[in-house]
Amino acid sequence: MASSRIESLLARMTVEEKVGQLGVFADMVRPFAPEVNPEANVSNAEQVLQQVREGRVGSLFNGVGAELGRQIQRVAVEESRLGIPVILAADVIHGMRTVFPIPLGEAASFEPELAERTARATAVEATAAGIHWTYAPAVDIARDQRWGRGAEGAGEDVVLGCAFAAARVRGFQGGDLRAADALLATPKHFAAYGAVAAGMEYNTVDIAPQTLRDVHLPPFQAAFAAGALSVMTSFNDINGVPASANRELLTEILRGEWNFPGVVISDYTADMELIAHGYASDARDATRKAFLAGMDMSMQSGFFADHLPALVEDGEVPVEALDAAVRRVLELKEAIGLFDDPYRSLDPAREADASYLPAHDALARDAARRSIVLLKNEGAVLPLRKAGQRIALVGPFARDRENIEGCWTLFGDKSRYVTLEAGLRAALADEALLAVEPGCGLEEPLDGGIDAAVAAARAADVVVLALGEPQRYSGEAQSRTEIVLPAAQQALAEAVAATDTPLVVLLRNGRALALHGAVRDAQAIAVTWFLGTQTGHGVADVLFGDYSPSARLPVSFPLASGQQPLFYNHPRTGRPELPEMKEFKARWREIPDAPLYPFGHGLGYTTFEYGVPSPSTGRLGWDETLTVTTTVTNTGAVAGEEVVQLYVHDRVASRVRPVRELKAFRKIALQPGESAQVAFTLDRHALAFTNPRGEYGAEPGLFDLWVCADALAGEAVQFELLGSGDSGLGIRD
Ligand code: BGC
Repeated sequence: MASSRIESLLARMTVEEKVGQLGVFADMVRPFAPEVNPEANVSNAEQVLQQVREGRVGSLFNGVGAELGRQIQRVAVEESRLGIPVILAADVIHGMRTVFPIPLGEAASFEPELAERTARATAVEATAAGIHWTYAPAVDIARDQRWGRGAEGAGEDVVLGCAFAAARVRGFQGGDLRAADALLATPKHFAAYGAVAAGMEYNTVDIAPQTLRDVHLPPFQAAFAAGALSVMTSFNDINGVPASANRELLTEILRGEWNFPGVVISDYTADMELIAHGYASDARDATRKAFLAGMDMSMQSGFFADHLPALVEDGEVPVEALDAAVRRVLELKEAIGLFDDPYRSLDPAREADASYLPAHDALARDAARRSIVLLKNEGAVLPLRKAGQRIALVGPFARDRENIEGCWTLFGDKSRYVTLEAGLRAALADEALLAVEPGCGLEEPLDGGIDAAVAAARAADVVVLALGEPQRYSGEAQSRTEIVLPAAQQALAEAVAATDTPLVVLLRNGRALALHGAVRDAQAIAVTWFLGTQTGHGVADVLFGDYSPSARLPVSFPLASGQQPLFYNHPRTGRPELPEMKEFKARWREIPDAPLYPFGHGLGYTTFEYGVPSPSTGRLGWDETLTVTTTVTNTGAVAGEEVVQLYVHDRVASRVRPVRELKAFRKIALQPGESAQVAFTLDRHALAFTNPRGEYGAEPGLFDLWVCADALAGEAVQFELLGSGDSGLGIRD
């Protein structure tokens, strides 16, 4: 039962006013980034304000600005019949004015606490700029790197994805939802959006229910457990039923199984797209199907406004269902204190104060360097020296300012973006030691570019080659078939490598890439994703050794594009590839069944040695907890951080199990020579999965366990999960 305030409002609302609360429309009063979505149901500022006045708008999205936000709210509160405030939403994904690394990059830190801090900083800036509600975090698991929106999530792993989903929700929302700097979170896209066939955006998803349950749904549950009160549907169909009209998903699972009390918002025009899917015959049919499946709010199509009143009138939609959806929307508004203070987060003075917060730059720099994955460092070519070494910074990203922020950054303060060149110059003792040559454009050769780059490489002691994907290659509707560098960049790399000057490749990328030729064979390779505002400084910190890289791959780097989908936790085949036997094995004609760099991989400037993991018991009782302890030692000469990873493998089960699954991870810092005892605990819940009958639970039997540095490393130890005393084998949770 909602509050008496909400019940009394509901009692006074007309059907049109109720339906009005379910409408989400582009904020044309303060339009900031209308171009991020296709045009649909276009209107202008006056029309939007008139709709607000008539009580026909629940929420506006993707506008910014406190002053104009107050004006919108004034119309809602003072000029609409019932004075219900609107809730102002936006896509604030990885930063507002200050841009933090793309979520995939930040996930590489393996530090959910870092994501919590950057989400908090984002919330402070976004709420100061007149935004109450963000359409983030994206918690889609992305096992196919052709898909462009992997950049917005936390990669291919479930446990990592859950940890980051929860951390981001906590960070956005803060401790008190009513606080002026609390930003409502919206995990998206519900569900299995990352599982689109062939990695093609918006494509069909044909998926085993068990995989849906065990891989794609858990990050949503983690986000809800962390307090998220809304969720956005996805565009794809799941086994033939569009997610946005999927009653099993939006009602049976979400409400029935999980008791989710919050709001289900459609993705942009997703109800309208039911017609194109061939799942609804017309707008009325689409409205009925989406609404009855469990969609509460309709974004931009106007379908609910146009058709729900008649559907209620004709008895095709029960008024109780309408009331329930409206109640949830009003509760969301109440939860953030909008009824008590409709002008919360609409304070121009606070907006001015928050327009530049130096502490957020410091955080962005730390987040940037903590997101960089050092894949390779032959001959310890890194770190570079700040003096006495001639450096050629080559490549189309050397001076670039247009590809710093990464996808889905609508509000970044571009004037603060630090280029690679600026970052390196700021770090160097003598700037004369730095030569900069673009060498080529992002996608096309430059006249004389390669010659100039080769000359610079010859004159240098080391080349830093900044290559990668243009930022528009990742994000929404940016699927690729070949996840490789543009040909012009590859040609530049080949020419520069031929000089034999030691080569450090800096990759900028929104997904895992297939690296070839001179790029793959460079002495050092660092994955820098899109690092945001402090790109140049974050990269310089790593290049010059002020920070020993500590990030690890949240996605497997393949040997070739054609391996996709390639993810470390794939089910076992009946003919696994063996080192001594290649024929009639699960592999490709051209390449083995292996990544170039596995999930979890990453180097620093020191080395770590792992002792043999020691489980507290070899026989884990059904209700018991196992503790596994491993000694990790910093065997190098400098301090560093290591991501200690725990994987398990279920040897025999009623459903073919993954070769390995990450169950826990921890980043530790060790001085040279220092050792730490790292202990993890594990119980049967961590071993659970959905069996062929759809039941969830662990199965007794033998398990392998690794505590190691990446998804391919380490020696396994074994333990046995014992059945429960009374029913023996096969008892389920
Ligand atoms: C995207 C969503 C986004 C929405 C609103 C859609 O195209 O899929 O992630 O929140 O637009 O901008």
